[in-house]
Amino acid sequence: MLHILSVNDLTDDFLYSLWSDASKRKGKSNNSLKGKVLTNLFYEPSTRTSSSFYSAMSSCGGSVIPINNVQFSSVAKGESFEDTVMTMSAMSNAIVVRHPDNGAADIAAKVSSVPIINAGDGNSEHPTQTIIDGFTIYNFFNKKLSNLRVTLVGDLKNGRTVKSLVKLLNRFDNNHFNFVSPKNLSLSLDLPKSSYETSDINEVLKETDVLYVTRVQKERGSVHDYSLTLKQLESLPESSIVMHPFPRVNEIPVEFDKDRRAKYFEQIRYGLWCRQILLERVMK
Ligand code: NCD
Repeated sequence: MLHILSVNDLTDDFLYSLWSDASKRKGKSNNSLKGKVLTNLFYEPSTRTSSSFYSAMSSCGGSVIPINNVQFSSVAKGESFEDTVMTMSAMSNAIVVRHPDNGAADIAAKVSSVPIINAGDGNSEHPTQTIIDGFTIYNFFNKKLSNLRVTLVGDLKNGRTVKSLVKLLNRFDNNHFNFVSPKNLSLSLDLPKSSYETSDINEVLKETDVLYVTRVQKERGSVHDYSLTLKQLESLPESSIVMHPFPRVNEIPVEFDKDRRAKYFEQIRYGLWCRQILLERVMK
């Protein structure tokens, strides 16, 4: 049974083959998952991740049980997380879990009889966002994930997409990381070998191939008003790309959206492409 709990569950071969299939299929519909059922079990808000799994599943001919609002489920009556997972595993072929606690997806995998896909656990990991983020980089840098200068900015302490992405990119050769955040929001992960930490983005803008911007996570107690100016973004190298897992609050001005370096809406499109193939792999 293939659980997707951490980027450590994703081998390079698995990723390259998934990305290659996603590039060929490009989100097109088929009936590969006809008769299969996915449960979306979300204990935290979500727009993109839950909808993208819904869209991927239905475009493969399958269906989704959407539990996007646990206060209207038996959780409100005091049902344990384990019982909810066991219940849903008795009526679906896989479960996507988002939860505020680190390690929740691992707990789910221990009691589930079907594959668990971690869609974000606390401030720990978000491996399916990393499949998409890795694909975006793979696509715009000639199918490579090496020799890149990656600047990550925002709430690095709580950004689970940041942690999963750093773990992935750290597996490839010659990547250099610039971590930009105020001191109290710095990365809560061992720094990769080639890393530089600063609170001033201007120091590293010109030495950036991939700028990965994240919001400040108020719900996890972070406070900081963080925003990049159009002028700062426009000073990035012509060949760079700008990514954001979204939601954005005020980190990137909308005026930058039409710049060809802005790839955050591509990331959302790629979410569907990659999750179609991922669901086929997990449910086969
Ligand atoms: C992120 C998340 O939930 O971790 N969003 C996403 O899934 N694309 C990022 C965030 O909430 O800031």
